[in-house]
Amino acid sequence: MNNNLDKMTTYFSYPPVELQEELKSIANAIVAPGKGILAADESVSTMGKRLQDINCENTDENRRKYRELLFTSDDKLAQNISGVILFHETVYQKTKDGTPFVDILKKKGIIPGIKVDQGVVPLMGSEDECTTQGLDNLSARCAQYKKDGCQFAKWRCVLKINKNTPSYQAIQENANVLARYASICQANRIVPIVEPEVLPDGDHDLDRAQKVTETVLAAVYKALNDHHVYLEGTLLKPNMVTPGMGCPKRATAAEIAAATVTAFQRTVPPAVAGVTFLSGGQSEEEATVNLNAINTYVGRKPWPLTFSYGRALQASVLRAWQGKDDQVAAAQTELLSRALANGQAAVGKYVAGSVQGKAGDQGLFIQNHAY
Ligand code: 13P
Repeated sequence: MNNNLDKMTTYFSYPPVELQEELKSIANAIVAPGKGILAADESVSTMGKRLQDINCENTDENRRKYRELLFTSDDKLAQNISGVILFHETVYQKTKDGTPFVDILKKKGIIPGIKVDQGVVPLMGSEDECTTQGLDNLSARCAQYKKDGCQFAKWRCVLKINKNTPSYQAIQENANVLARYASICQANRIVPIVEPEVLPDGDHDLDRAQKVTETVLAAVYKALNDHHVYLEGTLLKPNMVTPGMGCPKRATAAEIAAATVTAFQRTVPPAVAGVTFLSGGQSEEEATVNLNAINTYVGRKPWPLTFSYGRALQASVLRAWQGKDDQVAAAQTELLSRALANGQAAVGKYVAGSVQGKAGDQGLFIQNHAY
């Protein structure tokens, strides 16, 4: 045995103290009590699908107008929204009077973030599994985004439950790519949101979803440790543990909360700054009720548990807007009320049904969802 090699694996450094403090304070601000993230980082093609649903053409101008609607909502938005995840083009867009969106958000006290992954690609030889690309040039892109006002980033990996999946190949590859991404972000003073999404597609039950989530998260935190990622300056963006969309046996919010928190207790280190759930095709109301149940679940929960919702914060907004200028105010009201409901759920104070949205119970599931 070569003793030097043996030792080498445990010789490493965490970031300098000032960088640790900077990362930690950004991460903690995002998960302040009663606050969460608005994920508005839909790619051009995904935004096109959302616009198509309301008979709106997918033009640069319509996407800009829609994001302007979101970001110019009343200042009260900042009471429940601490951060917004942007897509590249949106970082450089402006309101109609020429104010950059990033400045609009900052003025409200909302932290701008950026999606830095470049989408999923197939893993050869796997059963329809994938990894996520975008590591090339990532450091340079992060450095530029930091200069342009973004303080945190998101990278989404996707794991699929099937008879033989997720495979060892997919679990290891996605854990590793998330760890490399997280380390590159931190080197550029950006807080990485680590998102290993186990898709809800399939007819698997709650127990299988829990075990897969545990296995995936355990691999992710092993990889983050191997890459010396500073956990206090990271956030986890996981799926809630739910039965597959096709499973006939549905679960109550309390069962989902128990399965989700138990999976995290077994795999997510207490050092992680916080957990910001994706909504994953749940209806707006379900996503809020389940988040509330997770926060009222009695058990060890050493991390803030809040939201980073895309569909479950925007479905009612899009419905109300319909691409019409005279409906902007009505759409903004929908955003504020859903943000408030989720802010309450993040501290376990949401009363089911107390905030009604235009898309309330409408399922938002999309098969094999791409972002
Ligand atoms: P959903 O809340 O629509 O699942 O999306 C959140 C997100 O940012 C996925 O990467």
